[in-house]
Amino acid sequence: SVPSLAASGEFLQCLSGNIPSQLVFTPSSPSFTSVLVSSIRNPKFFTPTTVRPLCIVTPTNATHVQAAVLCGRRHDVRVRVRSGGHDYEGLSYRSERPETFAVVDLANLRAVRVNRRAATAWVDSGATLGELYYTVAKAAPGLAFPAGVCPTIGVGGHFSGGGMGMMMRKYGFSVDNVLDATLVDATGRLLDKKAMGRDLFWAIRGGGGGSFGIVLSWKALFQSLYLGNCSDLVRTMSSQFPELGMTRADCREMSWLQSTVYINSGDANTTVETLLNRTTSLNTFTKNKSDYVKQAITEASWEKIFPWFNNAGAGIIILEPHGGRVGSIADAETPYPHRSGVLYNIQYVAFWTGNGTDSPNWIRGLYDFMEPLVSKTPRGAYVNYRDLDIGENTVIGGVTSYETGKVWGEQYFGGNFKRLAITKGKVDADDYFRNEQSVPPLVWRM
Ligand code: FDA
Repeated sequence: SVPSLAASGEFLQCLSGNIPSQLVFTPSSPSFTSVLVSSIRNPKFFTPTTVRPLCIVTPTNATHVQAAVLCGRRHDVRVRVRSGGHDYEGLSYRSERPETFAVVDLANLRAVRVNRRAATAWVDSGATLGELYYTVAKAAPGLAFPAGVCPTIGVGGHFSGGGMGMMMRKYGFSVDNVLDATLVDATGRLLDKKAMGRDLFWAIRGGGGGSFGIVLSWKALFQSLYLGNCSDLVRTMSSQFPELGMTRADCREMSWLQSTVYINSGDANTTVETLLNRTTSLNTFTKNKSDYVKQAITEASWEKIFPWFNNAGAGIIILEPHGGRVGSIADAETPYPHRSGVLYNIQYVAFWTGNGTDSPNWIRGLYDFMEPLVSKTPRGAYVNYRDLDIGENTVIGGVTSYETGKVWGEQYFGGNFKRLAITKGKVDADDYFRNEQSVPPLVWRM
């Protein structure tokens, strides 16, 4: 529903009674635009026609988040939560259709508290992966945490959708290492794992951000990392892949923390302090899609895939190997279902600059071409590589329809989608936390 102007005014008034005014930005505030773009990655979602929020709330403690939800419920204004703003479809700060909504931006809630002895930490959702990696490794050089590659990604959205990265074959996804969490639910209550109950704690670890509540912090388990030194690697490579002719000169020894910087930047001289830099740029437009491969793609097929890039201009595909720990965890253990039998994930990325917001045609053409080569019935996709091409929700009678949600939902979550929808039905039957691809509530009415 689109609330009336009066409701928007009452909502803002309700916020001002509960949250210090310097933490609430409306379009008339001088810094509204700079706060809005502070974590926008993709200029596609910052144009004159982009549907923008009524206001942005930047909480500094949990009671502000609770107040935003309670005011929103009372005055019929939805909130969208933003942690790092890296959503590929920008759903944390813009709406695809006209809608009055507020953004709760968690960038100020970004503490990382490491317990060295227990090898655990609490990390607030507004922290970036770079801040998480840096703080953990500085507190305890033997500890590390498995998560994504780009250091400006927010913990909140990333953990909500799974979290895949360089250490996943050894240690699994980020969510496979989450022990506890705190969340503000659709009635404004602050819950921990125990208070949340089994289904909700399951759902928030991979069921996609923006559907079940606002996760404030996550308790994460660390394992020490030993990948080995150059001599061991050269020995292994010479016996397993002699045809590559690898020598010591091809290998660089570094700490895990240095490796997180190096893998992202490709430059061994980048300092680890760059992990703390939250600045993003609005220069490059992107469109992303994903797939899962269960049967090895033949060399002959690869020969047909590569020319798509010769003709198409800027773009890459990224293959993320599964198996190892990721594949040994049951598909229903967390909402992320693409585990047993998956060889790797494919991410397709189109880049462009200039002023067109439309993605180049090649990315959808290549996606169609790939259909016979990738997972089927349903064709899998990764929720953290959000893609509205695979389906958008329809709202019927004020509530998102389960049937239309199933179309994209089973691609992201397979057989786990129904449990996510039932959980949503239990914790947010009114569908307060809603967006174009939020999990619909499935409620059986007697
Ligand atoms: P953002 O704040 O935009 O939120 C994403 C979604 O989660 C939105 O629906 C939002 O409402 C919701 N949400 C945010 N905070 C929440 C909270 N506290 N509680 C509940 N819901 C919340 N992924 C990956 O697995 N491995 C990788 O290596 C990469 N690499 C990568 C590079 C780049 C450049 C980009 C742009 C993206 C990736 N990703 C990735 C994808 C990334 O994991 C995904 O976009 C995450 O959802 C981003 O989380 P943010 O908090 O930054 O996004």
